[in-house]
Amino acid sequence: MGLFEFKELTKEYRRGGRAFNAVNSVSLSVEPGDFISIIGRSGSGKTTLLNMGAGLLHPTGGSVLFEGHDIHRLNDKELSFLRNEKIGYVPQGQSLLSNFTVFDNVRIPWFLFKREGDVEGRAFILLEKVGISHLAASYPRELSGGEMRRAAIARSLINQPRVLIADEPTGDLDVQTTAEIMRLFSSIAEEGTAVLIVTHELDTLNYGDKTYSMDAGNLSPHAA
Ligand SMILES: Nc1ncnc2c1ncn2[C@@H]1O[C@H](COP(=O)(O)OP(=O)(O)OP(=O)(O)O)[C@@H](O)[C@H]1O
Ligand SMILES: [Mg+2]
Repeated sequence: MGLFEFKELTKEYRRGGRAFNAVNSVSLSVEPGDFISIIGRSGSGKTTLLNMGAGLLHPTGGSVLFEGHDIHRLNDKELSFLRNEKIGYVPQGQSLLSNFTVFDNVRIPWFLFKREGDVEGRAFILLEKVGISHLAASYPRELSGGEMRRAAIARSLINQPRVLIADEPTGDLDVQTTAEIMRLFSSIAEEGTAVLIVTHELDTLNYGDKTYSMDAGNLSPHAA
């Protein structure tokens, strides 16, 4: 049994009276410690794929298995808990809550379900890991794009997920910051969390240990 599996995952949309598959029968298996990157052009279906994988969007065909269970068959409460507990998600674009400090943003997922433990300590360790502990008391508007991205990554890890999913985590960053963020993902994968990212940039190719390309909804191993 795999950790996280997409089986013939499909999303059909309609536009202008015509149906098309934004994601077309995609199968993928993710194991603990994997670092998988998917590259593909704008509109190729990357976000649609990740949103179905993270349980945010319902597929029109196929399934997403997490530890052998089809997540789209869970009820709302079960799915919310599974997402909160097991799947870290870094959405495309800016996703921090603007009225909360960085420190509070990072802790929010921890408070969504009843938990016990030292969340302050853990939040601080994560901020150190992503290199922005000095910004704990700052608000998102006071941060650069790369710093916001690091905060979102720290937030996605607060509940020690088994999988970290990130949608274009380096989209608007310079080459140097991109390299730093990609190294951070490598170290997260080395610690056993599976990492699955999508990007449209070829310069992230050197980091993931398995690379796929997405083209018009179809996923295939990336030819080097
Ligand atoms: N709700 C929707 N209804 C109809 N079509 C949609 C909907 N959402 C997305 N699409 C279409 O599905 C395709 C895939 O979109 P998606 O957002 O997954 O692309 P992407 O690869 O993430 O692109 P980008 O790199 O620009 O973020 C696009 O053609 C898009 O226009
Ligand atoms: Mg996208």
